[in-house]
Amino acid sequence: METKMWSEFLVPYRLAVDELVVKFNHIIEGYRAMGQYSPIEQVIGRVKRISSIIEKAGKKGIPLYNVENNLEDIAGIRIICQFEDDIASVIKMIKNRSDLIVHEEKDYISHQKKSGYRSYHIIASYNVETLSGKKTVKVEIQIRTLAMNFWAIIEHSLQYKYKGNMPKNISERLQNAAAAIVQLDVEMSAIRNEIVDAQNSFRIRAGIVSQILNNIQNLYKVANDREVAKIQDEFYEIYAAGDLNTLIKFSKDLDVIAEGYRSQSLPERNL
Ligand code: GTP
Ligand code: MG
Repeated sequence: METKMWSEFLVPYRLAVDELVVKFNHIIEGYRAMGQYSPIEQVIGRVKRISSIIEKAGKKGIPLYNVENNLEDIAGIRIICQFEDDIASVIKMIKNRSDLIVHEEKDYISHQKKSGYRSYHIIASYNVETLSGKKTVKVEIQIRTLAMNFWAIIEHSLQYKYKGNMPKNISERLQNAAAAIVQLDVEMSAIRNEIVDAQNSFRIRAGIVSQILNNIQNLYKVANDREVAKIQDEFYEIYAAGDLNTLIKFSKDLDVIAEGYRSQSLPERNL
């Protein structure tokens, strides 16, 4: 295939990856908007490079005109979770979606690969609308924890470096590291509630602080400077003391003050 043909061939895969990344990112946003924990931490997407497609097709003896049916990872989505339990929630979520039809699942978490690799893989099909109409493409979705991802990235770069001839001492060390990663995921799961609580209160605090700063900034436009400076000092004091409930109360009081100024400055007619 010529380069021009390749870039045309890859268009629907690019679209599928772009759309799915947006969709999964909106799932994260949806959870956060509801003030809930998101089982998805991060989403990454990529379309396989032409050179990698040609190389893989060559290795597998797939004629180039047939890569579409025989290579399942031209479009790749990687979903990263914080905890191992989140992976099951993500799998369920994917299976319930009407825009993804799951064809195949590979559980390299229950069945770790010999290399030490762990991840859950799903092959699904996904429809895109292109200039020439509807097109169904295969997508490989890899679901793993942050810790599993760390290991896989390191191991992948070493595999690349040694091109199939990894020295024994390195592969042994990688296997030890894989065992440590299993332990790390277990330990993190054990204190999951603590971690999630801390992250939630951090997010709540950040939200309130930005609301307060916004209100103070707007007050400068309508209220007496000295009065606003006093409110600002009071905010710094409460912020430094670190108590979330006092901060919430301060924010509510400030809302009332800001509302008072807003109603004063509004013209006497319906907008
Ligand atoms: P492929 O020919 O690689 O597609 O093999 P397969 O069809 O049996 O798929 P498999 O599920 O084994 O692997 C698909 C993808 O998972 C690979 O392209 C990698 O991204 C990842 N993967 C699989 N095994 C390993 C591994 O040992 N180390 C790392 N770092 N990644 C792996
Ligand atoms: Mg594959």
